[in-house]
Amino acid sequence: MNDDERIVFLTPERAEELESLERSCFFHSWGREEFRQLLSGKNFKAIALTKTEGLIGYLSFMHVPDEAEILNLGVLPEARRRGRARKLLNFFIDYCRKNGISRIFLEVRVSNKAAINLYQSLGFNLAGRRTDYYPETKEDALIYELKLIKEG
Ligand SMILES: CC(C)(COP(=O)(O)OP(=O)(O)OC[C@H]1O[C@@H](n2cnc3c(N)ncnc32)[C@H](O)[C@@H]1OP(=O)(O)O)[C@@H](O)C(=O)NCCC(=O)NCCS
Repeated sequence: MNDDERIVFLTPERAEELESLERSCFFHSWGREEFRQLLSGKNFKAIALTKTEGLIGYLSFMHVPDEAEILNLGVLPEARRRGRARKLLNFFIDYCRKNGISRIFLEVRVSNKAAINLYQSLGFNLAGRRTDYYPETKEDALIYELKLIKEG
């Protein structure tokens, strides 16, 4: 990762940039208005890797007092395989530890080997499987979780 890249929490004003980044990373994206509303609320947050030209990767999540669910994690196709998703996840795990979150979980397509390798390499464990979870392909979802030990 380059020195001019940093991780920030996105504000509602950046909803359009987030929509555009999500479109570049996934087949389906939420709309900018949805993002604006979500980012204005309390339980949804998104962190993003930024550089001078704009956003290159992000991780969005929902959280309640002691649990967080990763909703999406994506890096621009041309910026992959250079440790950026790992950097975002490590930042996020650190944030969760500091904010009293004791469990992180997520769903991932069974075919998404890149993401599964990434989560496993950071200590996430398989916690369940949802059969035929994705309606368009009938693909199964795997649930991964990471339990955190409270600090202090
Ligand atoms: C999954 C994704 C976020 C990874 O981003 P990235 O910045 O390329 O990942 P990193 O460079 O930090 O890779 C970290 C580790 O993840 C695994 N990994 C990442 N891409 C991989 C690939 N194409 N094949 C196999 N393993 C891969 C490896 O273990 C890698 O470690 P290594 O490079 O030391 O081998 C990216 O491919 C992406 O945006 N994919 C499309 C969106 C998506 O599927 N998101 C996940 C939804 S659950």
